[in-house]
Amino acid sequence: MRPIVQSKKLQHVRYDVRGPILVEAQRLEAEGHKILKLNIGNTAPFGFEAPEAIVADMVHNLPDAQGYSDSRGIYSARTAVAQYYQARGLTDTTVDDVYIGNGVSELISMVLQAFVDDGNEILIPAPDYPLWTGAVSLSGGTPVHYRCDESNGWNPDLEDIESKITENTHALVVINPNNPTGAVYSEEIVRGLVDIARRHHLVLMADEIYEKILYADDAVTPVHHHVATFAEDDVLCLTFSGLSKAYRVCGYRAGWVMVSGPKHLAEDFLEGLTLLANMRMCANVPAQHAIQTALGGYQSINELIVPGGRFYEQIKLANRLLNEIPGVTSVEPHGALYCFPRLDPEMYAIEDDQQFVIDLLRAKKILVTHGTGFNWFEPDHFRLVTLPDTEVLTEAIGRIGEYLETIRR
Ligand SMILES: Cc1ncc(COP(=O)(O)O)c(C=O)c1O
Repeated sequence: MRPIVQSKKLQHVRYDVRGPILVEAQRLEAEGHKILKLNIGNTAPFGFEAPEAIVADMVHNLPDAQGYSDSRGIYSARTAVAQYYQARGLTDTTVDDVYIGNGVSELISMVLQAFVDDGNEILIPAPDYPLWTGAVSLSGGTPVHYRCDESNGWNPDLEDIESKITENTHALVVINPNNPTGAVYSEEIVRGLVDIARRHHLVLMADEIYEKILYADDAVTPVHHHVATFAEDDVLCLTFSGLSKAYRVCGYRAGWVMVSGPKHLAEDFLEGLTLLANMRMCANVPAQHAIQTALGGYQSINELIVPGGRFYEQIKLANRLLNEIPGVTSVEPHGALYCFPRLDPEMYAIEDDQQFVIDLLRAKKILVTHGTGFNWFEPDHFRLVTLPDTEVLTEAIGRIGEYLETIRR
């Protein structure tokens, strides 16, 4: 037999969050080392539990969840999602505008497969959640990264976006609140993004999975603005969200995409999306039953994101401790579950940030993710997941500080 090689379609596809750095962590674990994994935003291993009502609802529905469902999702879940957006001003949203998937991840891939033709350019933030970049490449498109400006709270640089639009640009991806930076965009920025899409006839793809994870401080009370609410009826907008983060059920795999704007112009695309939904039969049915309960019931997330709540206390502490390390600066995250600090190149000569992460892992048994893994332009950042409790975070950031001391110029 000939060697079996991966398809050429994967040539430009990377997903470093779980790539070579994780392989090295697993190798060290196999040798008996205990590794603190701060590389993915997986809530359960850090002691976060799903709200009881969600588990109860799934258990209750399990006997009736044995068959395939409608490929777009069960009616009650799609209705609950539609009503969620209706209550946020998108009054035209109907059950037919909602597709349920095995997490936002599956829907990002499905939407891009249905939308992108070879050579289409899709604008994606840098830094990004790298699935977006990988999925555009896999669909035959060209990811074009626009700069988010660290010196301006990591807000998207609207001028940079505008300068990167060509006749091949078809869509603008917005990740708000942002992974990895934790930025929560102001109304002005969101309106600016929508305005660009409107003027250049771009489809908006809004990944809003962290919409309920927002942190106020003395200076800022962040408000999440749905891109779709400003897109009105003349910009097609696809809004992605789900249960993984705010409801702490990453493993259940429950997410959705909601279509808004001039839907009559998108009929052909939606037929393609439905075709792809049909081809994979349906999303995991038991988890679909959790959606209505989650969206309608008591929002326990609100306890975690205020002073005294674990998400709040952990991210604030992590950011403070990171900033105390010489040569490390971390912009205050106002949402999501991550810090994305910068390592001053004058102090730390890092040419290959993946190698930096591997060296840190070997030396201190802590796994973080390198900034270029999020398609950041320079090798001078890393992302830290702020899910461990404050004691573990203190220990972890202490060890990162010790390691940095050893490589200081
Ligand atoms: C911005 C963003 N979008 C999507 C996802 C994937 O979410 P899901 O668990 O719904 O597939 C993540 C997970 O970390 C994320 O950070």
